[in-house]
Amino acid sequence: MSVYIQPSVILVDKFKKMRFFRNESETEEVMSESSTPSTPTSPAPEPYEIKTITNADSDALLGHLRKFFFKDEPLNVAVQLIEYENSTCPELERYSLKSIKEGTSLMAVTNTNHVIGVCLNGTITSTISNEAETEEDDCENVKFSKVRSFLNYCGKEGTKAIAQRYPDVEKIMFVKIISTDTAWRGKGIAKELMDRTRKIGRERGYGLIRVDCSSYFSARAVARLGFECVYELKYKDYIENGQPIFQTEHPHLSFTVYVQKM
Ligand SMILES: CC(C)(COP(=O)(O)OP(=O)(O)OC[C@H]1O[C@@H](n2cnc3c(N)ncnc32)[C@H](O)[C@@H]1OP(=O)(O)O)[C@@H](O)C(=O)NCCC(=O)NCCS
Repeated sequence: MSVYIQPSVILVDKFKKMRFFRNESETEEVMSESSTPSTPTSPAPEPYEIKTITNADSDALLGHLRKFFFKDEPLNVAVQLIEYENSTCPELERYSLKSIKEGTSLMAVTNTNHVIGVCLNGTITSTISNEAETEEDDCENVKFSKVRSFLNYCGKEGTKAIAQRYPDVEKIMFVKIISTDTAWRGKGIAKELMDRTRKIGRERGYGLIRVDCSSYFSARAVARLGFECVYELKYKDYIENGQPIFQTEHPHLSFTVYVQKM
């Protein structure tokens, strides 16, 4: 497949801090590295706890991802990764389960054992990013393959930008997947999961935390947590035969890579 990327817009002011404001009065709310997530738009309907994901949680984790992330992550939506109610993507399942072994992935669980959010984390380095892991499997799924090629392309560009900006950083905490139950969105679950991930990263001596955002909302969450955007590619500029490969839904207009030094 030959893919054309509009050269002039691959990198938009790469070291700029991206900020999202609903209105002028919100500018004061932007968070610094040490601040806590912004106030959730509405309170959580029931108590929940954040816990480390273990192998025993594999089924619950996959159950959540099949119901939400596989179906509603913007790139998965664009390629219609899940065509039928009960179908799945084994390649994405394998990729998701790989992160459990490091012991840094988190899930938000209610008192009634309902998984309302997951944050799958892993280690990458300043030179080897996530694509090394995703390229391991042979992929027969054309749709997933399309998404994977895009993620690998942006992954490499993000890695280059980070190496340029933070040449001294070796060990990087990488947020591979972030997902919240539809009924719990906009309540600060993603921000809390990433905030807790960042704490684990600090404790374990990572130099940097990195989040590759295909969604406007995940980008918004990390911008709120004080992360800086080092790379952006607008979906309309990732082109094949003159047409954008991914027709993402509003407001998901671009793919971004956000980082924060620990
Ligand atoms: C991205 C995702 C994990 C965000 O989860 P979440 O728990 O709703 O996120 P938060 O509540 O922490 O909110 C993050 C920001 O997005 C905003 N937001 C989240 N959902 C929103 C919605 N449906 N409409 C408007 N704003 C929304 C929040 O208000 C918040 O911004 P603010 O701090 O300026 O108020 C969730 O939308 C999701 O699971 N999407 C599908 C999977 C996906 O795309 N994952 C990310 C791939 S990188």
